[in-house]
Amino acid sequence: MAIGIIVPDRDTTPLKQAIQNKIPDVPVWVYPSIPDNSKVEMLVVWKQPKAILGAFPNLKLVSSLGAGVEHLLHDPHLPKGVPITRIVDPQLSLSMQRHVLLSVLHFHKRWGDYALQQSRQQWRVPQPPERKVRVGILGVGALGQAVGSYLLQAGFDVLGYSRTRKAQTIFPVWDAQSHALTAFAKQINVLVCLLPNTSQTQGILSASLFQALPVGSCLINVGRGVQLVESDLLQALEQGQLAQAYLDVFEQEPLPSSHPFWRHPQIFVTPHSASITDQQQAAKIIADNFRRLQLGQPLLFAVDRAVGY
Ligand code: GLV
Repeated sequence: MAIGIIVPDRDTTPLKQAIQNKIPDVPVWVYPSIPDNSKVEMLVVWKQPKAILGAFPNLKLVSSLGAGVEHLLHDPHLPKGVPITRIVDPQLSLSMQRHVLLSVLHFHKRWGDYALQQSRQQWRVPQPPERKVRVGILGVGALGQAVGSYLLQAGFDVLGYSRTRKAQTIFPVWDAQSHALTAFAKQINVLVCLLPNTSQTQGILSASLFQALPVGSCLINVGRGVQLVESDLLQALEQGQLAQAYLDVFEQEPLPSSHPFWRHPQIFVTPHSASITDQQQAAKIIADNFRRLQLGQPLLFAVDRAVGY
């Protein structure tokens, strides 16, 4: 019985160590140094190589190392019937809360204008000096709820939009059964995308949605790159429908050096760094789920494969 870690894009020594400290009697192996695939009962996975998930005959559980799970669900080698879990953690939420608050404040306090003015040694107070902001949170899951609450506490108006009806949010949430997405867009001027990547959310950030937003709105995409129709964003910025976009995720990552987003004055690019899993925190959830698996207890943060998150 062993745990395998397949995360080729980062150093997972702290994760291995922290899991090992919690479950000292179970070996924790890091890909590509997995001596015996048949002993691995649980995998922790992020950006896995092609076909690897099919190579573990006794797999009983797969955990994503992040909040997202589409890298698992879209992998044809993921064995059927093996449960999937993900990381939901206050540290991950706090990081996302701060990233989105900073983006909202940057737009609200017009810091993009100041950066431009400073490059020209220009002393000018923009009019109005602060943009009025009403934030819409598209996707009210664990991160969406955390971000919406944080912005509300920072004094911003917040409205959420969700596929299903949500109870227990401290800000109002419209659901897709009762309101059209375009009706929601008309109520807000800062759109924060925190949706999971499913077949229903791909391409959702498109011209029809941008047209429904008030002129001069702002887009913050911290969901997934495939949710944005990139050419529609460029057009909406050109037309003035959108004034600013803060993008952390892209259709192709790393963003190719020739991509127009890099040099666009109204686009602020971050390298998928809004909220990166803390390995110590993740180890607690992973070790806990491993124990639950052994005891046949319900798993934490289990993913519904049919729904896609
Ligand atoms: C990051 O994008 C994550 O899914 O945790």
